[in-house]
Amino acid sequence: MKQPRSVRDVDVGGKRLLVRSDLNVPLDGGRVADDTRIRASLPTLQLLLQREAAQVTVCSHVGRPKGEDPQYSMQPVRERLQQLLDDRRLHVLENTRFNPGETENDPAFARELAADNELFVEDAFGSVHRAHASTVGVAELLPAYAGLLLERELKELGKLLGNVEHPFVLISGGAKVDDKLGVLENLGGKADAVLVGGKMAEQLREQNPLPFDVVLPTDVVAASEFSENAEARITPYDDLPDGWLGLDIGPETRNDFARHIAAARTIFWNGPMGVFEWPRFAEGTKAVAEAVARSDAYSVVGGADSARALTELGLENEVSWLSTGGGAVLELLEGKDLPGVSVIPES
Ligand code: 3PG
Repeated sequence: MKQPRSVRDVDVGGKRLLVRSDLNVPLDGGRVADDTRIRASLPTLQLLLQREAAQVTVCSHVGRPKGEDPQYSMQPVRERLQQLLDDRRLHVLENTRFNPGETENDPAFARELAADNELFVEDAFGSVHRAHASTVGVAELLPAYAGLLLERELKELGKLLGNVEHPFVLISGGAKVDDKLGVLENLGGKADAVLVGGKMAEQLREQNPLPFDVVLPTDVVAASEFSENAEARITPYDDLPDGWLGLDIGPETRNDFARHIAAARTIFWNGPMGVFEWPRFAEGTKAVAEAVARSDAYSVVGGADSARALTELGLENEVSWLSTGGGAVLELLEGKDLPGVSVIPES
């Protein structure tokens, strides 16, 4: 895969830089509920400050506000970043999506962002699949470089697009099959096993448009309705009572999936195996997270839900690479062009 030129290779001393980070973190009552992405953005900012940049201005979106909306203010994010990295040269702009020009990649907004800056550093891996003013527009106006997080994400995820060590096990779950089908299409052909759980498994059971077999759950934790407190029981998939829903993979499937994962030399996991937010339906996702963490294969986990499941279990450091991206991971592994990367000249 082509690599954009790196911020490590440019002299930033005395310069004013604009950095696009992905600080799109969950907020809860005006507080940052999970600061993973803020912490992941620190190495690039630290590098720039250590190398004597005169001014480092960070910009990002948070959420999907329709115009200015105090609920999506950058203030809690700014405060958290300043707690982690306190430097008078560091500034954080307000939510880029407060300006309608952001998502339209409006040149006037890009010019506003570029003004007063001499270099642009793209470090928002999670947002490079968006052709917005802060990811593409501004990179066309200023000399643009990839930040350390973006570089690392491209390197780690890029390994899955090349020659992988076999057995290669692809694990896919979650509710939205359309989002993930492209990844299965692009990588599934070279996988030795494609394990599918979650709602996605139901859809692929009814109709599998893929040119290869997938491993589907043989048993499920069935619920009488879609509710946290619904009547629930473990049942072979074929005996699922009419009108009941499979809200998690069952124990036989968990063992089967864990066996495939234990034999793997390369693993990619994206998407939970059930409604893991509800403890009674979380065991399948937990079993997959633990099996991936136990494995000494090269393991990559992508997507907000899988990342959250791993982090909640305290296993976030037990995989080879835990991506900060959601949609960007899927688009990269689908083989799509990432506009926020291709706009940066190659090294
Ligand atoms: C993400 O959370 O995946 C990124 O920050 C992109 O957010 P978006 O889907 O709202 O563009």
